[in-house]
Amino acid sequence: MNWKERTYCGDVNRRHIGSDVVLMGWVDAIRDHGHILFIHLRDVQGIVQAIFDPNISADTYQPALELRHEDVIEITGMVAQRAEGTENPNLATGDLEVFVREINILSKANPLPFQISEKAMVFGEEIRTSPESLDEELRLRYRYLDMRRPSIQRLFRKRHEVVQCIREILEERRFIEVETPFLTKSTPEGARDYLVPSRVHQGRFYALPQSPQLFKQMLMMGGMDRYFQIARCFRDEDLRPNRQPEFTQLDLEASFMTCRMFRVGDIQLPRPFPRMTYQEAVSRYGTDRPDTRFGMTFEDVTPILQDTNYSIFRDIIQKGGLVKGFCVKGQAHVLSKNVLQNEYAQQIVPSFGGSGMTWMKVVNGTLESNIVQFFSRSERDRIMSCFDAEEGDVLLMIADTSHKLVHSVLCDLRLHVAKRIGLIGEDAYSPLWITDFPLFELKEDGIQSLHHPFTMPDRTDFDPKNETELLTLRSRAYDLVVNGEELGGGSIRIHTMDVQRKVFDALGLSSEEIESKFGFFLKAFEYGTPPHGGLALGLDRMIAMILKTPSIREVIAFPKNRSALCPLTRAPSPASPHQLEELGLFKGSGRDAKKTVKEHVTADHRPSKEKTTITREEVQHVARLARLKISESEAERLQKDLSAVLNHFDTLQELDTRDVAPMSHVLELKNVWREDQAHPADMTEALLRNAPDREETYFKVPRILEG
Ligand code: AMO
Repeated sequence: MNWKERTYCGDVNRRHIGSDVVLMGWVDAIRDHGHILFIHLRDVQGIVQAIFDPNISADTYQPALELRHEDVIEITGMVAQRAEGTENPNLATGDLEVFVREINILSKANPLPFQISEKAMVFGEEIRTSPESLDEELRLRYRYLDMRRPSIQRLFRKRHEVVQCIREILEERRFIEVETPFLTKSTPEGARDYLVPSRVHQGRFYALPQSPQLFKQMLMMGGMDRYFQIARCFRDEDLRPNRQPEFTQLDLEASFMTCRMFRVGDIQLPRPFPRMTYQEAVSRYGTDRPDTRFGMTFEDVTPILQDTNYSIFRDIIQKGGLVKGFCVKGQAHVLSKNVLQNEYAQQIVPSFGGSGMTWMKVVNGTLESNIVQFFSRSERDRIMSCFDAEEGDVLLMIADTSHKLVHSVLCDLRLHVAKRIGLIGEDAYSPLWITDFPLFELKEDGIQSLHHPFTMPDRTDFDPKNETELLTLRSRAYDLVVNGEELGGGSIRIHTMDVQRKVFDALGLSSEEIESKFGFFLKAFEYGTPPHGGLALGLDRMIAMILKTPSIREVIAFPKNRSALCPLTRAPSPASPHQLEELGLFKGSGRDAKKTVKEHVTADHRPSKEKTTITREEVQHVARLARLKISESEAERLQKDLSAVLNHFDTLQELDTRDVAPMSHVLELKNVWREDQAHPADMTEALLRNAPDREETYFKVPRILEG
């Protein structure tokens, strides 16, 4: 092997014509012409065609016939110009080829779980290996194969470019990169913590950071002035397509660099970014992350309809409800009565949680709808002018006593309609800052911070015990929203201890809790804290947007799947009794051990010795939750059956499981998690002997299912 003399496949160019090159890479594609063999050789820089011709080198031709896709080889050969008409414009090296004189097979590959090659050997030939056409779970299980594809490699090269760009800009502006700890104390950002048990201090846990928030503030207190970090964050929260349990933030103290990062994807963002208050965003778009690439903003028709004869609206308004809607310009011919009534009002809107939708169309200068007769002439005129409605427009309205519901349903409806009628330009980018957020919100367990508890309120003279007053406070926080996606968020921070204590107080934290959770942080306030502020950008989300990938998983090298599992390593996996014992979580030996486990398991339940009986009310409660109507006799039977199930569960806890390793499946592990194995070639042959056609090791079978 001669690494020093190596040329990358993608770097082969016209200057090499007539000279020898040493290439190393994977066999991407093979075409056997009977007396001459062509292969595509692929490395990180690209692909080049290599030719094995027995007339040039009989020694290389024979071993080359044994080559299979993804074998790793080293070849030496002479670069030549391809004959006219045989060029492949899909390859950067498509007008060249290499006549091989030496071959060294470095490693062989098993049959592949999916095809990797993305480039046809002959220009114009169809190739069906786009990442979208493959099962994502399979791709992630073999991510190391998936990422050999040039389209995936490009994503990571671009991701690297964005990160480089960040470092350059911040370097120019005298920021310094500081790493903050992973093994740390909880940093509240609204999610659950991932805990790491300590072996040395048994019963104690580190929390992985939800963000470097507290540390970056302490760096400011430490006089660092300008800090940044490409920071990994960990959040145990409900997964959504744009959320990963571990993700990367650009955590910093600045706000001027986003445009340059988008330029890596050839996207020009308009500057300066417009601002919108939280209040306006919710009222006009129904969300604090509005997609402003298109209009259809909401109008409130409640004042017009206070005394309407249409009793459904009148009742809702009298109960303090809202009637709001938006105008779809010139789509009356597309949104037919049937679509509006049967699809939107009866199916789509209920799927968004709404109970119904009112629609009106402007036809022949007047409003037309199934309920328009209930509205007076003046109400109809005022509705039309409120929406600026013209001939051919469609008005969609939602009414409900819950303002929140009206906004959320309208928000979903607006996006649905925009997608349906193609209002969203593929290449449109519409960034904006959302400002003036409420500082607190009221959740089931009381007052909570909308961002995090370190955000500066708009005023500091509030009474921390006055819930009504607390809910009127605004925060000095700002979110960066692009195309309806929250890309980042930040705030001016609290920098005095009394205000910080007041906020903790408002959140209902006792002095002991404040001390145990944030004592170290408050201590730092005692030594002179500069006013400071900052921001974190979701790097994965931003790169996915710049590169237009369908999900953030595409731009994360080894992401978790939708259930927070790693398909490749199958993490999280059970720990061995030995590991748990070392961590003091599970004592593996001695009679006491069993007690510990049992105590642990039953701590939140009822004592295992007592017979468990479910009450009739509990059964009825569960039935109500499940929206089941059950008769008295059914309730009685369920009460008996469910009690029996719980008692059986209690007896399971009596089982001696000391020597049983934790398992992920209760059945015998045979055929449950079968390790992948290549079938012996002859078995595949036997199985597919009726297949109509074959190519190399692949059998062609008829396509049965499309898509
Ligand atoms: P915040 O919680 O808003 O703020 O996070 C900042 C940005 O990080 C991205 N993000 C995520 N990306 C992928 N998966 C997730 N689970 C996930 N959660 C958040 C989003 C979000 O806008 N410490 C504050 C910032 C500050 O005040 O400076 C913070 O973490 O794009």
